[in-house]
Amino acid sequence: MSARNNTCIVGLTWGDEAKGKIVDILSAEHDLCVRYNGGNNAGHTVAFEGETYKLHLVPSGLFHPNVTCVIGGGLVVDPKVLLEEIANYEGAATGLRGRLLVSSRAHTIWPWHKKLEALSEKYLGKGKIGTTLRGIGPAYGDKANRVTAIRMGRFLAPHDLEQAVRQIVETKNRIFTGVFGEEPLEADAVWDEYAAYGQQLAPMIADTTAYLHEALAAGKRILFEGAQGTLLDIDHGTYPYVTSSSASAAGVWPGTGVPAREIGRILGVVKAYTTRVGEGPFPTELTGDIGSQIREQGNEYGTTTGRPRRCGWLDTFAIRYAAQVNGLDDIVITLLDVLSGLPDLRICTGYRLDGRRLEAFPACPGALAEAEPLLEDMEPWSDDITGVRKFDDLPEAAKAYVNRVEELVGAPVRIISVGPDRQQTIFRE
Ligand code: IMP
Repeated sequence: MSARNNTCIVGLTWGDEAKGKIVDILSAEHDLCVRYNGGNNAGHTVAFEGETYKLHLVPSGLFHPNVTCVIGGGLVVDPKVLLEEIANYEGAATGLRGRLLVSSRAHTIWPWHKKLEALSEKYLGKGKIGTTLRGIGPAYGDKANRVTAIRMGRFLAPHDLEQAVRQIVETKNRIFTGVFGEEPLEADAVWDEYAAYGQQLAPMIADTTAYLHEALAAGKRILFEGAQGTLLDIDHGTYPYVTSSSASAAGVWPGTGVPAREIGRILGVVKAYTTRVGEGPFPTELTGDIGSQIREQGNEYGTTTGRPRRCGWLDTFAIRYAAQVNGLDDIVITLLDVLSGLPDLRICTGYRLDGRRLEAFPACPGALAEAEPLLEDMEPWSDDITGVRKFDDLPEAAKAYVNRVEELVGAPVRIISVGPDRQQTIFRE
C-alpha cells in the first residue's frame, strides 16, 4: 500500500477556505474520510444537485455511500450537535449511521464548556478572542487539564460516568457561582439529557485508531479532512487568536493515530482572496469598498455563526509559511469567480516592518499587527467564469493570477473552484 493513496486536505489560512467542497469531491477517490481536529466550530459546505448541506462535525465525505466517515480522537464532540447533524443528513447520506465511527478517544463538549466560554469572552471585552462560542476552547482546556475531561468512550460505561459528571458539575458550579456570581448548572438535568445522547451515540463509538490501522493494512485509501486553517493552529497559527486544536496537517498524527509518513499528498486550500472571522491581526485586510464588494460577491458570512467575515487581498507570504509548516504538495484555489468584476486586484508578496522586508512570517501578534503588506498589482478581469471547466478557457488575467500564486507560494495549483457546486471545478492534474 502506497502512502500516496492517502491525502490530507488542509486550510492554509484562517479557515473558511471552502475545504468541504474539495473533501466531498476527492472522497469519491477514497474509502475513508477522517476528520482530525476541532469540533462544531467548523462549518463545511457541500453543494450538489441543487442542494446545499452545511456540516459541522460529520466528515464532508458523507454523501458518498461507499465512504466510511471517521471522527478522530483529536476532536471535541458536542453530542447534541452530532446527533442533530446525523438526523438532518441521514436522508441524503445513505446508510450514514452504519458507516460513521466516532473515536472513543475524542473529547466531549458539555453545557459547562459553553457557559464558561460565553462568560470568559464577555468579561474579556475588547481583549476577547472572538470565538464561535461552541465550547471548543474550554473543552480542549479540560482535555489538557485531564481531571475534568470526559472522552467519548465513557459513554460506553454510563454507570461510571454519572458519578464523574456530578463531580464535574460541582467543580464547575463553584466557578460559576463563586467567580462569576452566576446561576449553577443543574446536575440532574445535565445528566439526564447527556446520558440519553450517549445511549444514541454508543453504537458508533469505536477504537478508530485500531480501525484505521486495519484499513491501512487492507490497502484502503484515506482522506484526512482538516477543519479551520493553518493560521488558526494552536501551535503554528497567529497565537493567541487561534483555535485550540492542531488545524494544520500536523494534527493528523495526534488526531487520528495514523503516523505522518502514511500521508502521501498534502493538498492545501486557499481562497482566491483572504478572509478572517473573529479578532486578531490581518495584514491584507480591506476595510473599504473593495472589502465589502468581496464580502457580498463571496457571501462571506460565517457558516457556523453568521458573522460577517473580514476580507482582504490574497496573502501569499502567510501562505508560503503555511506551505512550509504543512509540507505542502499542491494548492487548491477556491472562489476564483468572486474576483470577477473587482475594479482593482492585488496580491501580497511579503511584509515590511520597521523599514525592512521580513524574511519570515512573524510569530508574535504585535509584529503581525504592525506589518505592512507589500502589494503587487495584478490585472483584474470582468468575465463571469462560473461556467468555465478548463484552465485554458479562463480569461488571460485569471490565468496570470493563478500562475503568480504558484510562483509566489512555490507549489502547483492543481484544482480551481469557480462556484459552490461540485461541477464548478477545474482540474489541472
Ligand atoms: P474557537 O475555535 O471557537 O475557539 O474560535 C477561535 C478562533 O477561531 C475565532 O477567531 C474563530 O472565529 C476562529 N474559528 C474557529 N473555527 C473556525 C472556522 O471553522 N472557520 C473560520 N474561523 C474559525
